[in-house]
Amino acid sequence: MPLLKIVHYPDPVLLEVGKPMKDEDFGPELEKLVSDMFETMYSAGGVGLAAPQVGVSKRLFVMDCSGGEDPSQKVALINPEILTVEGEQYGEEGCLSFPGIFTKVKREMRTVVRFQDVQGEENELDLTELPARCVLHETDHCDGIVFLDRMSALKREMAKRKIKRFRYAGEWV
Ligand code: NI
Repeated sequence: MPLLKIVHYPDPVLLEVGKPMKDEDFGPELEKLVSDMFETMYSAGGVGLAAPQVGVSKRLFVMDCSGGEDPSQKVALINPEILTVEGEQYGEEGCLSFPGIFTKVKREMRTVVRFQDVQGEENELDLTELPARCVLHETDHCDGIVFLDRMSALKREMAKRKIKRFRYAGEWV
């Protein structure tokens, strides 16, 4: 199966608000996209991948914080909606659209997210720690927000300088 191309910042699709998935969007085409997104995410070594990162401006993402070890953690979230957030965590974060950039980012410790599965069934997950961080990061992608926007001003400047160096060296396409 072909891997999808992951777009890198500052590709404009990463800064667009994704369109909601309608009832008629569910079906074999969506199943294929989700399956290709999982394959692309695993092959890139990520724990989450949102549709805008493969150039599709829609509200959906895939995640697996076990890196393929635990099937119960492999989940596709269509039309994710953050219902509640609580607490705080401060930890290192990366993004497949920012290769080589790893920065500490403050996020909420816990979140409850409502979404539809790939069949269109409504579901909710109550998550903490890394899976919560992942859901918040990927839902941001669906809203056209990248993790750069969540960094402290100082860390954002450092990351931007690093991106500039990578781009100048031709290591960021
Ligand atoms: Ni990301």
